[in-house]
Amino acid sequence: MSTSAIQQIRDQVQHELHGAVTIVVLGASGDLAKKKTYPALFGLFKNGFLPSNTHIVGYARTKMTHDQYLERVTQYIKLGTEEDKAKLNAFKQVTSYQSGQYDQAESWIALNQAIEQSEQDRQLQPAQRNRVYYMALPPSVFIPVAQGIKQHVYNATAINRLVVEKPFGMDTESSNELGDALGALFKEEEIYRIDHYLGKEMVKNVMNLRFANIFFAHAWDRQFIDNVQITFKEPFGTEGRGGYFDDFGIIRDVMQNHLLQVLTLIAMERPISTDSEAIRDEKVKVLKCIRPIKLDNALLGQYVGDLDGKKPGYLDDDSLKNKESQTPTFAALALFIENERWEGVPFVLKAGKALNEAKVEVRIQFKNVAGNLYDDTARNELVIRIQPKESVYMKFNSKQPGLSYQTIQTDLDLSYHDRYTDLAIPDAYESLILDVLRNDHSNFVRDDELEASWKIFTPLLHAIDDPKQHLPLVTYPYGSRGPQELNAFVEKFGYDRSNSDAYTWPRQSMAPQQNKL
Ligand SMILES: *[C@@H]1O[C@H](CO)[C@@H](O)[C@H](O)[C@H]1NC(C)=O
Repeated sequence: MSTSAIQQIRDQVQHELHGAVTIVVLGASGDLAKKKTYPALFGLFKNGFLPSNTHIVGYARTKMTHDQYLERVTQYIKLGTEEDKAKLNAFKQVTSYQSGQYDQAESWIALNQAIEQSEQDRQLQPAQRNRVYYMALPPSVFIPVAQGIKQHVYNATAINRLVVEKPFGMDTESSNELGDALGALFKEEEIYRIDHYLGKEMVKNVMNLRFANIFFAHAWDRQFIDNVQITFKEPFGTEGRGGYFDDFGIIRDVMQNHLLQVLTLIAMERPISTDSEAIRDEKVKVLKCIRPIKLDNALLGQYVGDLDGKKPGYLDDDSLKNKESQTPTFAALALFIENERWEGVPFVLKAGKALNEAKVEVRIQFKNVAGNLYDDTARNELVIRIQPKESVYMKFNSKQPGLSYQTIQTDLDLSYHDRYTDLAIPDAYESLILDVLRNDHSNFVRDDELEASWKIFTPLLHAIDDPKQHLPLVTYPYGSRGPQELNAFVEKFGYDRSNSDAYTWPRQSMAPQQNKL
């Protein structure tokens, strides 16, 4: 990005907030705050993206001294240079801590007094008394906290913004309940529902790829695309956190939210502009075209110990209360979008814990060439790798170099780490908090979007949660590629695996023994 584009963003933030804000991190002693929120706030501070007059107040139940607080919230901040260290000292000067309860008026009144005191000390004008409330909290306290803030901390003379993190309920009904309760307290435009996948570089790139390239724009439909695979793979199991995970399962954990968001960006129609409501309108529209997932279109799995007995199975997790849990740790789900563009094209979402690698990617597989002249040609595939090592590559067919006329598969490859020098991709949270400050809702989930997304998953989730239904659950060993049944499942929904097994990315050897000359 050019220096002027960066400066423009800084100016936007300053202008939007009249140069001042108080950011209240609720749940400041928790994991999310120390691992994500504070490092992101520091990243923004360091690069000059916070308003020039910013104060950060940490709030939580834990009693801590100022020094204990600072130690806790800065432990995950990485310092590269001497300059970073100096910046961290400056960052520490603009943050303070206040302990209090989540359900008691006195605590909230005290928090408000502390904020007002800081606003006075900073000599803020009424219009500068902006407040961002960042809820890094478990869902059990969402509502009491939102109420406490609204009654005792919210002040309508300046801007108030509420940032919430998943889980947004467990199904359509509980999500709507939570939404109604929040909606009674805060206006929709004051609420920012985080899905941190929307802050990831390659997810943000989907719109640019689709709408700024004519050769993608015109091949982006059922006529050219055979199927779409959106895959999330994690190389570790629950590792002692099974007690928490068991209430959710892999579908609620990453599919109903993160992977569905990616699908939505791949599938939606072109918005009329890049305005956030225009984008979210299109997302809602395409979600409403997706029918609830049929049980036949789901493959559910749970990991067991690995073959040499070194890694435990899911049910071996000591924190698990239900030792006969049927909670899926793996799922492959085929979704269908019933509109003109996509009818009949399977969108297969796959996600699993305790697999062989860490990877999140989108694989768009095009159809076979009609009237093909050559044997052995593979389908074109556009791959968007979200993590690790961001990249976009297109698998295509080309003549084997040399005397042969054989067609081989290769790729047009944009690997960010090879192509861009001085590449610094900010963490998703950094990008999202910046969006909150400059009032851009594009990368946040709107209330109607949330409802539409739950409707797709709720019937399947209820069937899984109902012990009487006993849905089939296959097993797979820790560290494997997933259940054996997966290949047949993806093939059933159109994915052609031929040739892809021999294909290596990004370097291909031309040595004769590796190629059928
Ligand atoms: C809101 O803030 C203004 C100063 O900006 C203050 O005068 C007023 O009393 C506050 N209102 C409440 C309800 O606290």
